[in-house]
Amino acid sequence: MTRIFSGIKPTGHATLGNYLGAMRRWAEVDQHQSDALFSVVDLHALTVEHDPARLRRLSRQAATLMLAAGLDPALCTLFVQSHVVEHVRLSYLLECTATDGELRRMIQYKEKGAQALAAGRSVRVSLLTYPVLMAADILAYGTDEVPVGDDQTQHVELTRDLAVRFNQRYGHTFTVPKATHPQVAARVMDLQDPASKMGKSHDAGAGIVYLLDDADQVRKKIMRAVTDSGREVEYDRERSPGVANLLEILSACVGGNPIDLAGVYESYGVLKRDVAEAVVELLRPVRERHAELASDPGYVDQVLEEGAERARGMARPRVDAAYAAFGLLPMG
Ligand code: AMP
Ligand code: TRP
Repeated sequence: MTRIFSGIKPTGHATLGNYLGAMRRWAEVDQHQSDALFSVVDLHALTVEHDPARLRRLSRQAATLMLAAGLDPALCTLFVQSHVVEHVRLSYLLECTATDGELRRMIQYKEKGAQALAAGRSVRVSLLTYPVLMAADILAYGTDEVPVGDDQTQHVELTRDLAVRFNQRYGHTFTVPKATHPQVAARVMDLQDPASKMGKSHDAGAGIVYLLDDADQVRKKIMRAVTDSGREVEYDRERSPGVANLLEILSACVGGNPIDLAGVYESYGVLKRDVAEAVVELLRPVRERHAELASDPGYVDQVLEEGAERARGMARPRVDAAYAAFGLLPMG
């Protein structure tokens, strides 16, 4: 059976981008067809300045939202990354496999590193090494497929390179995984700035739909989305990025392809109204289920505890094998 691994960083409130690019597919498809693990990758939230209390809150919220989105602990393994020490154990060996040059080429490192320096903040070493930890997340489980949004392609490519290099040097240890992306909405753009990704760690929220926004907030944000100076509703990512983004969101919600949907609309106003209603309906059950689950944190904790136990059992033999292959003496 295909082994799937994916994760979400608790760096902010989860967005419509997270849902359409990743979480919805995990719940609707992946957990039913595959042997799937999904993780709140909390160690990845530490690569930029963070507030411990907020991290705790957001980690529990991310797990609760994953359940609310439909992940079922009877079908998949849901856990918190820091509960399974194998990730960090393997990450060190992969740091001894990766090169400084290949990590410095990562787009996210270049962008976030530059942002930190511009704001007069120092850059944590973990911002550079983070893709290696992500590779460890994936490789520890013999993962075949990694369902993610477009922005993670480069990190999964690095993971493949590290797996191949390790296998060549030290003997076959890791499965070489591949990234998979949704057909539409693999990169949902910010409604106020359609040139950049809708990302949960952005400062301003006006262009970001959060999964826990109420219906009025969702409507307001979508009705105020930046469109283009033209009038025709056309699907053209280059010339009309704002409209193309709305058409992709609509297509992800109601089906059909964005080009055909463009032909249905004569004005931006009507398109926005339909997108707003489609997103409100899409998120309604997630928000309702989240409210139920949030009132029972004991249940969420128990799911995470059982998930971590299962994940440990799956990761340990492969990480032990990697340590042995590297030449480290086995523990008694
Ligand atoms: P992150 O929030 O960076 O931890 O991302 C969790 C998952 O959501 C990853 O698979 C991302 O690729 C995906 N994702 C994040 N933002 C977007 C977006 N704007 N559009 C599509 N997918 C996204
Ligand atoms: N780096 C991913 C992101 O920013 C999150 C992540 C960490 C991940 N480890 C992973 C995704 C392993 C897939 C598989 O979205």
